[in-house]
Amino acid sequence: MKKAIYAGSFDPITNGHIDIIQRALSFFDEINIVVIQNISKKAFFTVQERINLITKLFANEPKIIIETFDGLLVNYSKQKNIYTLIRGLRAVSDFDYEFQMALMNRKLSNKLDTVFFMTDEKFTYLSSSLVRELARSEADLSEFVPEIIQDALREKLSHG
Ligand code: COA
Repeated sequence: MKKAIYAGSFDPITNGHIDIIQRALSFFDEINIVVIQNISKKAFFTVQERINLITKLFANEPKIIIETFDGLLVNYSKQKNIYTLIRGLRAVSDFDYEFQMALMNRKLSNKLDTVFFMTDEKFTYLSSSLVRELARSEADLSEFVPEIIQDALREKLSHG
């Protein structure tokens, strides 16, 4: 069984992430989406809220497992015995950072490899923080995030 890990802050998950997951689903039998509290970022949704949203989005997809993990991804990988990481590339500018992370992860665990998928070009400029910024300005988000996420953003913002 071919398994892989797709980790990120997903604060919130966007159509760009979903595009990567859908592409990866045709190559892997099971994908663990791992929601990580990135300590260098101020959280908007709690980790549990992000997990609940992703769970709703993939309710009909048995190949998806949603979890959280605190610590190095390499430790999650060893714990689960899954040695493939999925990452998305949006533009050339992502490459240096991704290259560094992939090599560092492999340095930490020689078995751990990273597989890259190119995002659909319509999502090259997308990021979770841009989505949050647009939501604060009440912009139309229908191209960028699913309806469930639009509703959750509105709900969260309306409660300060
Ligand atoms: N479509 C749309 N947006 C995308 C995207 C895509 N395909 N791919 C990435 N993005 C966005 C993300 O939403 C994120 O936006 P934000 O900065 O506004 O939050 C931004 O691009 C950066 O994404 P990413 O590099 O995946 O950051 P992240 O915070 O989501 O995830 C981790 C980073 C969690 C994977 C990384 O920090 C990690 O591995 N942490 C665990 C600790 C560890 O092992 N560290 C050692 C690493 S060598």
